[in-house]
Amino acid sequence: MNQLSIAPAIEQATPRVLVVDDEQAIRDILADFLSMEGYQVCTAENGSAALQELEKGHYDLVLSDLKMPVMGGLELLERLREAHLEAAMVLMTGFGTVESAIHAMKRGAFDYVLKPFKVEEVVHIVQRGIDQQRLRLENMQLKENLRHYQLAEALGGSVRLEEVLGMICDLVFKETDADGVSLVIEDPRAPGKYVVDTVRTRQDSVVAPEQLAPDVHELLARFLAQQPVLLNGAGAGRFLTTLKQPELVQSFMSVPLRVRNTPIGMLSAYRFKQGARFSEGQRKALAMLASRAAQAVDNARLFGNLQNTFRETIKGLAHALEAKDQYTAGHSERVTDYARVMTDGMTHLSPEQRELIVQAGVMHDIGKIGIRGEDLNKPDKLTQKEYQMFQSHPGYGKRILEPITFLHDIIPGVYYHHEMWDGTGYPEQLKGEDIPLMARVLSIADTYDAMCSNRAYRKALPHQIAVEELARCAGRQFDPMLIRVFLDNIDLLRERWRREGHWVPD
Ligand SMILES: [Fe+2]
Repeated sequence: MNQLSIAPAIEQATPRVLVVDDEQAIRDILADFLSMEGYQVCTAENGSAALQELEKGHYDLVLSDLKMPVMGGLELLERLREAHLEAAMVLMTGFGTVESAIHAMKRGAFDYVLKPFKVEEVVHIVQRGIDQQRLRLENMQLKENLRHYQLAEALGGSVRLEEVLGMICDLVFKETDADGVSLVIEDPRAPGKYVVDTVRTRQDSVVAPEQLAPDVHELLARFLAQQPVLLNGAGAGRFLTTLKQPELVQSFMSVPLRVRNTPIGMLSAYRFKQGARFSEGQRKALAMLASRAAQAVDNARLFGNLQNTFRETIKGLAHALEAKDQYTAGHSERVTDYARVMTDGMTHLSPEQRELIVQAGVMHDIGKIGIRGEDLNKPDKLTQKEYQMFQSHPGYGKRILEPITFLHDIIPGVYYHHEMWDGTGYPEQLKGEDIPLMARVLSIADTYDAMCSNRAYRKALPHQIAVEELARCAGRQFDPMLIRVFLDNIDLLRERWRREGHWVPD
């Protein structure tokens, strides 16, 4: 069973009963009879001693007197529930205190027996209590397994780190009654440096999300010492050094995110409503969620690293390709910059869509790897055959990227960046909006850079001539709406480049 699980293991071994009574004679009689019936029995002389015993090991049932010095049966019952110690409770009571026993049943006791009792009657109630308790535990375990499964399903559905982190916070709200959640993650590039990565609060929260930054080092020290962090009432906000009014925190719990036994962060939950408290059970539920969450964060990071490695490799290939040729050096990077300045002006696009267009810019000519270098930039006019060969580079690019699943989304940019708005481009003579948006963007960025760069067969055109040419070809070669976007935004990039001392087309 998972060590973070809430339900204790269901042991089908000998049932364990704890007899609690301040009268030695009653303890001895019950212990003798219950042992003869096959139970494993221990005794305690009051509620307090019973609690100590219960904390040492699992009991199926507690058979307790109602009135005892130090701690009576009712208080013992409350403390059992508070500590989430799972044991059925049967109370022994005299006629005068039956009402208290009935009250105890309302508070979760299984049953009561009246003193003086017949031992057979007690044995019968004890057996029923144990049976019911075992069913309850089985039920809890089933529910818990289901929750494990649901958590794994939910978190396993994504490999994007931000999505996973957001999902973890949503799950905390769902699994606990938190008013706020914060997720602190170690910076993988700077071991030992922890940053508050994601914070969420409910809409009616009295505390602003940016104030929920727990004291990472204090918490790590607690985790290292295996001390559970669950604070209720006054002082619950003491791990929040950045909070202006720590007294607003009514309850706080925090659990580590561990990967291969090393903490990579911590998941904390907060309650702000007056008198609101997290229970130990909720802390354990949070710990269970954190163990799943840590795996999901680790997977997302590994996947992200893999993607970056792939991207860097492809970028390296694109640069290597350009390095062979003085005329195209820096081309893909500039096309990427032009594409970025255009997407910045297209506010209706999501950040993901913009990022894809920019990435496609880096790789748009990757298919030129398949074409002989001397054919790419000869000073004379290309022969028909050479031109056909040149036109095959979008197809080569597509074939290079197809085996790399996560780069599939940029293939439309690579494959269609030589299509023309009027349907006279290649490779498929797509027309108008049938040409994917990223290809229409790249076509403009690519052509502008080509016009403003020297080629073996001609000198670079000045910026003014190039933009006039683009405007002239709007609606024929290029998407007219996107030409407007380019013309509206290109000066911003030119100004920035000038400030940065970057080369700027004349
Ligand atoms: Fe191209």
